[in-house]
Amino acid sequence: MKRSDINRYIREAEGFFRINHFHLPPFASWSVENWRDKGDEINEILDCELGWDITDFGKGNFLKEGLLLFTIRNGLTGSRKYPKPYAEKIMISRENQLTLMHYHAVKTEDIINRAGGRLSFELYCHTEDNQLDGEQTVIVARDGVRCEVRPGEKLLLEPGESISLTPGLYHTFHAENGTGPVMIGEVSFVNDDHTDNICLEPQLRFPEIDEDELPYRLLVCDYGKFLRE
Ligand SMILES: [Fe+2]
Repeated sequence: MKRSDINRYIREAEGFFRINHFHLPPFASWSVENWRDKGDEINEILDCELGWDITDFGKGNFLKEGLLLFTIRNGLTGSRKYPKPYAEKIMISRENQLTLMHYHAVKTEDIINRAGGRLSFELYCHTEDNQLDGEQTVIVARDGVRCEVRPGEKLLLEPGESISLTPGLYHTFHAENGTGPVMIGEVSFVNDDHTDNICLEPQLRFPEIDEDELPYRLLVCDYGKFLRE
């Protein structure tokens, strides 16, 4: 992805969070110079990968297949230093912008439509060889209400509604066309994007970045390059 596009998407996201009255923590608005002025007091932010995160899943078309995320809190799997067992994110899906089909090996996550348009989901169980199970009925809780859905059946979440995704449950989602972008919350077990995401198609979780201008904000995947080299 081009850095200039990433900068623009983050500026747009800041505006969207603002109009929806969602306030981010202080490190969300640090400049690169602000980050470089800090010492080891910010190790938790760096080690637990808190902050801005953009993915195009390595497909090169962010507006079609992509997601913008901000990790607000997280722990680190297996770490005594950061034993926090939970995570929280805020995300934005644009109209018809797909988050590709995946499941989590360990993480249980609640995905919440916090504001905006309508969030469309498809769910499948997985087969032994990690394909979509087209037969098995999916059992899922929607705001505490147990539901049975057909594999791939479209589920729509209005603002305020949420769904609890258990480990092993394939899911894909996007903001439904014509309803506007969705501000999505995630409340989950500790998040590990390096080991816990099992994807139906090969994909790249963190983008390769063409540095055509300076970063407006650092992404989680920038910390190593800009702060720890
Ligand atoms: Fe997920």
